[in-house]
Amino acid sequence: MKVRVKRGAAYQQFEVPRHPSQTVLDVVTYIQRVLDPALAYRFACRVGMCGSCAMMVNDVPRWTCRTHVDRVAQDDSLTIGPLRNLPVIRDLVVDMREFFDKWARAKGDFRGRQTKHDDFAPVPPSSAPRQLADAGIECIGCGVCYAACDVVKWNPDYLGPAALNRAWTLVNDVRDAARLERLRAVSGDAGCHACHSHVSCTERCPKKLSPTASIAGLKRAVAKAVVQGDL
Ligand code: SF4
Ligand code: SF4
Ligand code: FES
Repeated sequence: MKVRVKRGAAYQQFEVPRHPSQTVLDVVTYIQRVLDPALAYRFACRVGMCGSCAMMVNDVPRWTCRTHVDRVAQDDSLTIGPLRNLPVIRDLVVDMREFFDKWARAKGDFRGRQTKHDDFAPVPPSSAPRQLADAGIECIGCGVCYAACDVVKWNPDYLGPAALNRAWTLVNDVRDAARLERLRAVSGDAGCHACHSHVSCTERCPKKLSPTASIAGLKRAVAKAVVQGDL
């Protein structure tokens, strides 16, 4: 199989043997271990848990450890590059700082109101807020949605689908004490209202989450808070 790997401004071509059940991450690992030890890439868990192995595969952002070559190879060839919309450090490694800085800007950290002396808060799994929060909680921070989003490309200040999805899970967490502060943080020009509902993030999310739905929820929650005079 012919594999073109983006390295800086140019592509380098490698010949990689095919195997049954081979993943795109297996291909990159083969290149690094056998053909060119200087190739830089990132992975950790290899089982779809850590979110560190995302790359562009034939121009589509994907988690490479769970993407089988059979599903994505075109004419027995693959083109692999670093995730879009993020600065490249080297070869297939991107700098995730702005991605996670935006989680912080969206107040993506839980702010509890109880102390260690309080009992566990009962949050029934069947309650509506719990179900809304649970719908977005399995995010692995892979950046696939961020690379898929054209609004991030046009407006680098935009908080992006993952940070806003995280904010929505916390807005629905009944134990959290920073709801209004968070809604304020996501309501500016770079927040939920910048989303054009293109759905690319939702189509690409490997965990089958819907940042689009989360962002729509944030828009409604912000509008309600404004009408109620809270924002
Ligand atoms: S739905 Fe919104 S966040 Fe998702 S890709 Fe489209 S513009 Fe980006
Ligand atoms: S929302 Fe999905 S695509 Fe985006 S970072 Fe989380 S797991 Fe990855
Ligand atoms: S290596 Fe951890 S998600 Fe792919």
